[in-house]
Amino acid sequence: GAPVKVDISKLEPGQMVVKEWRGKPVYVMRRTDEQVAGLDKVDDFLKDPQSGNAAQQPAYVDPQARSIKPEILVLVGLCTHLGCAPKKRFEVGAADLGGDTWQGGFFCPCHGSKFDLAGRVYKGVPASDNLVVPPYSYESDNVLVIG
Ligand code: FES
Repeated sequence: GAPVKVDISKLEPGQMVVKEWRGKPVYVMRRTDEQVAGLDKVDDFLKDPQSGNAAQQPAYVDPQARSIKPEILVLVGLCTHLGCAPKKRFEVGAADLGGDTWQGGFFCPCHGSKFDLAGRVYKGVPASDNLVVPPYSYESDNVLVIG
C-alpha cells in the first residue's frame, strides 16, 4: 500500500484523528505535556513498559513514549487480543478503568483490554502485547508519513 500523509498542523493538544493505512485504522494523537508526563506514572501497571517486544514498534521510536516526537502518538488502532478497535478514554482517573491509576489511554470494549497513552498494555487484561506503532517518518515539522 501507498504511504499516507497526515497534516498535523491543526491537531490540538489532546486531540486524535483516525487515518486509514493498508486497510487498517491508524490513530494519530497530539498528547498534552501532562499526558506525556503521565506515562511515567503507569509503568508499574504495564506488561511491557519499555517496549521489550520489538515486533510492536520500529526501533527508532522512544521505548517509553513509543514515538519520534514526544507529543505525537501514532498507533495502529487494532487491539492486539482479537483485533477490535480500542476506544479513546482520555479522562484521568476514570473509575471503571482503575481510578487514580488511570492516566488516560485506550479501552477495548470487546474483552476489556486497557492501553495507556503510548498504546502500552496493562497487566490483568486479555491482550498480551502493546498496540503496534506503524513505520512512519516526518516529511516536515507538520507532515508525517505513515508507511
Ligand atoms: Fe480487545 Fe479482546 S479484542 S480485548
